[in-house]
This record gives sequence, C-alpha cells and structure tokens, in this order.
Amino acid sequence: MSGGRARVVACSNIALAKYWGKADEAQNLTAVPSLSLTLDALRTTTEVAVDATLQRDELILGGRAVAGRPLARAAALLERVRALSGSRLHARVTSENDFPTASGLASSASGFAALALAAARAYGAPLGPGALSAVARRGSASAARSLHGGFVELLAGAEEARQLAPETHWDVRMVVAVTTLAAKGESSTSGMLHTARTSPYYGAWLEHAPRLFEEIRAAVLARDLAALGPAMEQSALAMHASMLASRPAVIYLNAASLAALARVRALREVDGVSAWATMDAGPHVKVLASAEDAPRVRDALLAVAGVERTIVSAPGPAARVIEP
Ligand code: PMV
Repeated sequence: MSGGRARVVACSNIALAKYWGKADEAQNLTAVPSLSLTLDALRTTTEVAVDATLQRDELILGGRAVAGRPLARAAALLERVRALSGSRLHARVTSENDFPTASGLASSASGFAALALAAARAYGAPLGPGALSAVARRGSASAARSLHGGFVELLAGAEEARQLAPETHWDVRMVVAVTTLAAKGESSTSGMLHTARTSPYYGAWLEHAPRLFEEIRAAVLARDLAALGPAMEQSALAMHASMLASRPAVIYLNAASLAALARVRALREVDGVSAWATMDAGPHVKVLASAEDAPRVRDALLAVAGVERTIVSAPGPAARVIEP
C-alpha cells in the first residue's frame, strides 16, 4: 500500500424545511431551499485508504464488501476528488454507521459527507468547506448539509450548503421513532424524479416550499418552537402530499408512521407538550421538542404500536477528521 489515509466522523441531519425535487438532475442541484438540523446521535465513521495495488475502488459497509449502486456512487465521488488532486490511484473505503443502516434512516447524508472529507484528506485535495460541501452534494444533496454542524441551509440551485447557526444556538432535541420497516422503499432520487414527472401537486410544492423555508429559517433564528413546529410539519406533509399524488403514488409512510403522527398531535392538544413531527423518504417519524420535554416525547412514542425503538439526539457538530 502506498498513499494517504484519513478517518472521518460525520453526523446525519434531518431537514426541518424539506427539499424534494432537482433543479438540475446531472449536477444534483435542488429545486427548493432546505434547512436541516445536524444530529449528534446518528454518526457515520469512514476511512479512505489510497492504495496503489488496487485495480478499482472498494467499499466495505458495516464489515461487508459492497458492489452495485452503492459502490458506483462512492467511486463517482472518489473520481471527483482524484480529478481535483491529480491522483489516479484507487482507494478502499471502510464505513460504519452507529445506527441501523437498513432502518431507512438518512445514512446517505452522513455517509457522503464523511466520504467527501475523508477522500479529500486521503488524496491531499486542497478543498475548503464550500468545495467539500459541493463534492458531497453530488453524491447526495442532503450530504452537503452534514459537513456542517447545527442548523444548516442549502438554497435552491446552490452548489454548497452553509451553516445558519451553530449547534450551540438552540438546545433542542430530535426524537427519532424507528418504525417497523416492511421493505426497502424507493430511493429518494427516483421518488423525487417520479413525483416531478407525474404529480399534479409538484408545481404547488415548488411554489409553496420557499415560503415555508423562510418561515422556518426565521423561527430557528428566533429559537421559537411554537412558530417553527407548524411550518416544519407542513413542510414534511406538503412534500408527502406531492408524492402521494404521483402515478403510481410514492408512499413512504406506514400505519406506525400515522399512529406516531396522531400521538404527536395528542401530545400537543391533550398533554400540552410542544412536540412537532417530520418524515423523510422512509416510515420513521422524527419529533422536535425542547430538551426538557424530550423524555416525555420518547416515552409516548415508545408506546405507539409499530414503533420499535427511539433515538434521542441533540444538535450535532460538523464532520471532522479523527485519529486512525
Ligand atoms: O438528498 P437525498 O437524496 O438524501 O434526499 C433527501 C430528501 C429528504 O430527506 C426527503 C428531504 C431533505 O431535505 O433531506
């Protein structure tokens, strides 16, 4: 083996203001602005080892060698970093999530963020935070946001994400309710392209999402959960409504997701707890609440039929290089 090696930890993120749809498919630019919270409790650790003896790139995920589309996507990112560094050597990528990969939680966000930073270091590519975010974005748009800590925005058509406020800005909690996953759902990329092609509500989504983003952005800056919550829920449900109107429908939510949503509403209306839900391209429900209310929200979600476990997360830091 000859060449560089780097190990990186990156946290996943959950969008409070969702993006769904591409402004440019080839460049992987997003059609609407999004704003996310980086999550301390959902981490990916990735090592990139450049190796002159390799004939092609290798990917080991959770201890198992992986081929097919995941390897092709990782190799495409490595290829971009090689082009920037002038190297032609291949690399071995070893990656582990500290949360269940098959659970449908957003492993591509932390995965491509960690890979972008580790590859840049291993190949010695001189990339600043902006350029790194752009490299990660080509792998998965949500990954552009995971290079930063705290509250992060990715504007429509933007090359790179930027931090809106650091993780110390607001001590909120995201309670992730992991529901029973019957089968692996459609990938976010194909789900959003299908929505754009066939849903009569996609145009309405494109028109409304930027307004919700502005509302959410202002509420985050003001640390105003009562203002953030309703706009955040509407962002998620308007996104799912645009998918549901596709032909055939794109459906990620299951019975447990709907039961969890009903429980969150009851937490607010019956128990007086300020808790607000969001959902992505999977059946899990993520609930934003104050640090003080998080244990109560977690207990309520654990009692919902079909919720298998919960993960409570504080705001997380930026992706960072760690010692081997
Ligand atoms: O960029 P991707 O392919 O990870 O898609 C992310 C899509 C959502 O999670 C549903 C929304 C978002 O803004 O993260």
